[in-house]
Amino acid sequence: MTKKTRVLSGIRATGRLHLGNYLGAVRGMLELQNDPRYETLYCVVDLHATTTPYDPKILKQKTRDVVLDYLSCGIDPKKSHLYIQSELADLIAQLSFYFSTVVTIARMQHLPTFKDKVKQYPEHATMALLNYPVLMAADILIYKASLIPVGIDQEPHLEVAREIARKMNDTYGTDFPEPTRFATKGEYVPSLTGVGKMSKSVPGSFINLTDDLETIKERLSHAPTDSGKGEKIPKEGGVSNLLKLVELFEGEDKRVHYEKLYTSSGIKYSELKQGLAEAIYKELKPIQEKRRELESKPEYVDEVLRQGAEKARKIAESTVNEVKEKMGFK
Ligand code: TYM
Repeated sequence: MTKKTRVLSGIRATGRLHLGNYLGAVRGMLELQNDPRYETLYCVVDLHATTTPYDPKILKQKTRDVVLDYLSCGIDPKKSHLYIQSELADLIAQLSFYFSTVVTIARMQHLPTFKDKVKQYPEHATMALLNYPVLMAADILIYKASLIPVGIDQEPHLEVAREIARKMNDTYGTDFPEPTRFATKGEYVPSLTGVGKMSKSVPGSFINLTDDLETIKERLSHAPTDSGKGEKIPKEGGVSNLLKLVELFEGEDKRVHYEKLYTSSGIKYSELKQGLAEAIYKELKPIQEKRRELESKPEYVDEVLRQGAEKARKIAESTVNEVKEKMGFK
C-alpha cells in the first residue's frame, strides 16, 4: 500500500466561523478528507488564539464553537482526526522551541502578518505573537504534513514553514517535507465593507455560518454599491466584492449575467442582494440544522476530540523523539 499524503489544517479559537473561513479553508478540508489518497488532521488552534488579547473565561467556549462548526460543516470523525491544539501543547510547543533555533528574529519581524497585528494591537507586541509562524510550522511539521488547506492570507506563514523544514533538514538531518497550500475557489473571500478581506476582527465585514436569512439580508444591505450601471465592471470595492460573492454562491454564469446587466440596462442591487442572501442561506441551512443536533450531544463531541487527540499524539510523539535525537538530546 502506498503511503497516504498527510493533510493538516487549523482555525483559531476566536469565535464562530464566517464565510471566509468556510470557503477558504473548510471546503478544502472537506474535499481532501473525502479523497482516500489523504490522511487528514484538523484542529482548533487555541494556543494561537492567545497571541492577541483574549478573555481566558471564554476561551473554552470559543474553542467549542469552532469544533461544532467544523463538525456541522461535514468534518467527519470517521475520516479525519479532529483535536484541540492545547491538548498536545507539551509536544507542539516543545517542537516550536526546537524550531526557533533555526529562525532569526529579523525574519519574523518583517512578516506582513506580524506587522499588521502590531499595528492593530500596539500594546501587545509579545514574544508569542512574534513566534506565531514558528508555532504554526510546528502544528504542520509535527505530522510531516505536506498539504495545507488554508486561505491565501496564510501563504507567508507557509513560506516560513518551508524555510524551517529546509533549515532543520540541513542543520540536523531531519526529513521534514516542504508543505504547500491546497487552494479552493474561495481562497480570498472579500469583505462586505468593500475594502480588504472578510475578517472576524472587522465589524460589518463578515457573514457567520450561524446567521439566519434575516441576518444575512441585513448584513448584505450595508454592503456599498453604486448606480448599477457603467462602461466598465469595477475591479475593486463594494460592487466587485458582491459580484465575487455571487460567483462563489450562485456560480460563474450568474456573475456573467450581472456583469452584462451592468454594461447594459443596469443592475438592481436590491434584487441581487435578495438572490445572494437566499443562495448563501440555502448553503448554510443544513449546516445550522446539524449544529443544533450536535449541541445536544456533548458527550459524542467530547469522545470525537478525545480520539482525535489520541491519534494525533501518537504521530506527534514519534516526530518529537526523532528531532530530540537528531538535535543531540538523546
Ligand atoms: P484563522 O483562524 O485566521 O483563519 C482560519 C482559516 O480561514 C481562512 N480565511 C479566509 N480564507 C479566504 N478568505 C477570507 N476572507 C478568509 N479569512 C480567513 C484562513 O486562510 C485560514 O485558512 N494561522 C491560521 C491558523 C493556523 C493554522 C495552523 C492553519 C495555526 N496553525 C496550521 C493551518 C495549519 C489562521 O490564522 O487561521
